[in-house]
Amino acid sequence: VSVWFVRAALAYLLVGFTIGAALLWNAGVPFAGQVGRLRPAHAEFLLIGWTAQLTLGVALWIFPRLRLGSLPHGRVGFAWLGFGLLNAGVWLVTAGRVADVATLAWSGRLLEVAAVAACAVNLWGRVRPGLSQM
Ligand code: HEM
Repeated sequence: VSVWFVRAALAYLLVGFTIGAALLWNAGVPFAGQVGRLRPAHAEFLLIGWTAQLTLGVALWIFPRLRLGSLPHGRVGFAWLGFGLLNAGVWLVTAGRVADVATLAWSGRLLEVAAVAACAVNLWGRVRPGLSQM
């Protein structure tokens, strides 16, 4: 699951930087009046889609395994749930802010908070010394 967190994060980095470049270009040499409306998409993709998603993905990968053998990374279903909620949240917040629909944006934020909680459920029991140090 951490592989998909990191892949998705990289995709948001690419798209977020591209939108940032378009915003910057448009500020210097205006080429389309509507580009400025993508500012919330730029911020959301880079702050949550890239930074937060990369952090969670690396944490899910690098935290100590619970045991050798079966289910070494604990309840992985919660990590997948977190992946789905986080990405749904990013798109809801973006849609809500670009279209100026507050309830949509707030629902997205709630999904993002729930995503962090779901990942925390997976990680909680893994906060301890690694198997090699026990
Ligand atoms: C991880 C990297 C980055 C993060 C977290 C980030 C985040 C942000 C945030 C939070 C805003 C304010 C959005 C708002 O007020 O609604 C912003 C604005 C902006 N960003 Fe970025 N950004 C990043 C990289 C970049 C890059 C690489 C570029 C250009 C190639 C860029 C160009 C811009 C521009 C032009 C604005 C609008 C500034 C303005 O209108 O005053 N950003 N960014």
